[in-house]
Amino acid sequence: MRFLITGASSYVGARVYRALREEFDVLGTYHSNRLFKEQKKLDLSNSSEIKAIISKEKPEVIVHIAGLPLGQCAENSKLAHEINVDATRRIVETANEIGARIIYMSTIMAGKASDVYGKTKLEAEGYVAGTKAGFIVLRGALTIGQSPNTTAEKYYNRILRSVAEKSRLTFDNSALTQITYLGSIPEIISRSQENDKLWGQTIPVVADEKKTRFAIASDLLGEFGVTCEPSKGTRYIDEAYYTTEKLRELKLPAYNYRQIIKKTISEMHTWLNSRKT
Ligand SMILES: NC(=O)c1ccc[n+]([C@@H]2O[C@H](COP(=O)([O-])OP(=O)(O)OC[C@H]3O[C@@H](n4cnc5c(N)ncnc54)[C@H](OP(=O)(O)O)[C@@H]3O)[C@@H](O)[C@H]2O)c1
Repeated sequence: MRFLITGASSYVGARVYRALREEFDVLGTYHSNRLFKEQKKLDLSNSSEIKAIISKEKPEVIVHIAGLPLGQCAENSKLAHEINVDATRRIVETANEIGARIIYMSTIMAGKASDVYGKTKLEAEGYVAGTKAGFIVLRGALTIGQSPNTTAEKYYNRILRSVAEKSRLTFDNSALTQITYLGSIPEIISRSQENDKLWGQTIPVVADEKKTRFAIASDLLGEFGVTCEPSKGTRYIDEAYYTTEKLRELKLPAYNYRQIIKKTISEMHTWLNSRKT
C-alpha cells in the first residue's frame, strides 16, 4: 500500500509518518520544516504543486494532515481558507483523477465551527466527503503524546519542555476540553487497511471525560515533580462534546482519560531517558 502524508513534520503528522513507515510504503511532505531527510516539499498554497506530486507519486491513500493551526487561522482568515479549504478541495480533485482514497485529519472544533479554524476544517470535511474511492475523517481533540516533532508550539510540547527544564507553567483552569491520544491516530489509519467499515465515517478520536488544560497538565507534570499554576479566562472556549461510542462501534481503541495519561507519561519517561544516553 502506497501512502502520501501531507504535513509529515507537524506535531501530529510526524508521529503518523514514523509509525506508518514501519508497515507501508510512505512518502511524507513538508513545507518549511524538513524533519526527515527523505521528505518532499509541498506548498499547499500552490495548486499546481498539489496536482504534480499526487499525479507523479500515485498514492493509493492520501493522509491529509497539513493545515493552518487554530492561532494562525484567527490571525489570517484568508490564508486559513486557502490552506485548509482550497488546498483540501484541490487534493480531493486530484485524488479523484487517480482513484486515491483520503484520510483527513480534522478537529472536534469542526463540530461547533464557531471560529475560523473550526469553520475551515468543517468546510474541508465537506470536500473530503466527495472522494470517490473512499474517505475517513478523524476528528481530534487536544492531542497529547510523544511526537518526533518536539519543538512545534503545541500544548503537549510545552509540558514536555517544562519537564526537561523543570520550569513552571500556567494553564487555563476554566474551560473544559476533551483529549486525544496521539498514538491512536496511526493505529486507526493502520486498522483502516483491514477494516472496510471505517471508510465513509467521521470518527471523533477522543476520551469521554472533559478536563481543563490545567488539570491535564497537572496530571502529567505531577509524575515529574513539576508544578503548574491555574489561570482563568483564556481565548479557549468549551468545545462540542463527543463520546467514544463511534470508536467502540467500529472496534477501534477507545482509551479513557486515565489510560491516555498513563501512556503519555510512559512516553515522556522514554523520551527523557533517550536524552540522557
Ligand atoms: N495538535 C492538536 O491538538 C490537533 C488536534 C486536532 C486536530 N489537529 C489537526 O492535525 C493537523 C496537524 O496539526 P498539528 O497541531 O500537528 O500542526 P502543526 O504542528 O502546527 O503543523 C502544521 C502543519 O501544516 C503544514 N503547513 C502549514 N502551511 C503549509 C503550506 N502552505 N503548505 C504545506 N504545508 C503547510 C506545516 O508544514 P511545515 O511544518 O513543514 O511548515 C505542518 O506540517 C491539523 O490539520 C490540525 O487541524 C491537531
